[in-house]
Amino acid sequence: MSIMKDRLSRPLQDLRISITDKCNFRCQYCMPADIFGPDFKFLPKNDILSFEEIERLAAAFSKLGVSKLRITGGEPLLRKDVASLISRLHQIPGIKDIGLTTNGVLLPRLAIDLVNAGLHRVNVSLDALNDDIFKKINGRGVSSKVVLKGIKAARDAGLGVKVNMVVQKGVNESEIIPMARHFKDMGVALRYIEFMDVGNSNGWDFSKVVTKKEIFGMLSDHFDLEPMDPNYFGEVAKRYRYKNTDTEVGFITSVSESFCSSCTRARISADGKFYTCLFASKGYDLRGLVRACKEEEPLINEISSIWNQRKDRYSDERTEESAKSKEKIEMSYIGG
Ligand code: GTP
Ligand code: 5AD
Ligand code: SF4
Ligand code: SF4
Repeated sequence: MSIMKDRLSRPLQDLRISITDKCNFRCQYCMPADIFGPDFKFLPKNDILSFEEIERLAAAFSKLGVSKLRITGGEPLLRKDVASLISRLHQIPGIKDIGLTTNGVLLPRLAIDLVNAGLHRVNVSLDALNDDIFKKINGRGVSSKVVLKGIKAARDAGLGVKVNMVVQKGVNESEIIPMARHFKDMGVALRYIEFMDVGNSNGWDFSKVVTKKEIFGMLSDHFDLEPMDPNYFGEVAKRYRYKNTDTEVGFITSVSESFCSSCTRARISADGKFYTCLFASKGYDLRGLVRACKEEEPLINEISSIWNQRKDRYSDERTEESAKSKEKIEMSYIGG
């Protein structure tokens, strides 16, 4: 199989699959409660891909060179019987790594089943340890202790664990150092994420971003950090190690140092649309095709033709203007 490249010579390596647009949190930067309230219309059940349909799409992507899958949401663990989906995906030849991005609340209940089904890793979102701050951010008054229990359950079950912290100016900067200390002591990798202008509902502007440079400066007052090489081509996080330890800390710098030139990621929404960028306005429908024909070849042809035409590089070109006025899909719909 020859490696498939897009118009900017980027190979297709990773597939991120959103399996639900619902979430049990209402983080202000992702699903603000005033917009995602009781009347919000989530995707109708019939529009959502079944596990069999997801499996067939993932198998087609794997034939085109994808070896890495990430399951996202909304909150993916809300989808009924998610372990059985993992088990189907695990059996696809060519799939070597399956990760899942979660808010962690349901991990105590599900971690063991997920590992047994073939899940390798979880990335758990946690933006603060301080409960006054965290309860406000998650919009549902959930204590950080609940998420910490989830992280522990995942580790005990044998999953690889990383923690994602979205940093927002004036909201949780005071948690940068306490989070670093806590996860350094636990030996868990923490990644600081620059607040991004995903979607059109989170009130983003440049002044609310805390950049990698600023965070790195704060950390350097407390810890000795040394840079690490990327784990794989196209890794989004810039990684460092606390000196004389095996514990790493990372930065996801979509705003201050974009990484579009090595973006190898394809995304599928829960309703089966193929997005070639996190900041896209429109996706390509794959659900119609997966429902209309049982053969794999038309799927493979459609996916390659979309990837071959791809030339997205939103973060490289971002301006205050495009961040505010461009119509973009929501983070809760596409899963990051
Ligand atoms: P691994 O490296 O496999 O652990 O996963 P990951 O870091 O790609 O996944 P995760 O879901 O934890 O994503 C962390 C953050 O990076 C989220 O805020 C994502 O939205 C962001 N991110 C991931 N991929 C991209 C990308 O292609 N573009 C941009 N702009 N942000 C991304
Ligand atoms: N900017 C940066 N990261 C975000 N996430 C959700 N919305 C945003 C945003 N606007 C993070 C979540 C999760 C990951 C998938 O994306 O906290 O860790
Ligand atoms: Fe839910 Fe994650 Fe969005 Fe928060 S960031 S509302 S946990 S999907
Ligand atoms: Fe990839 Fe789009 Fe993110 Fe750039 S902005 S790294 S093209 S998903």
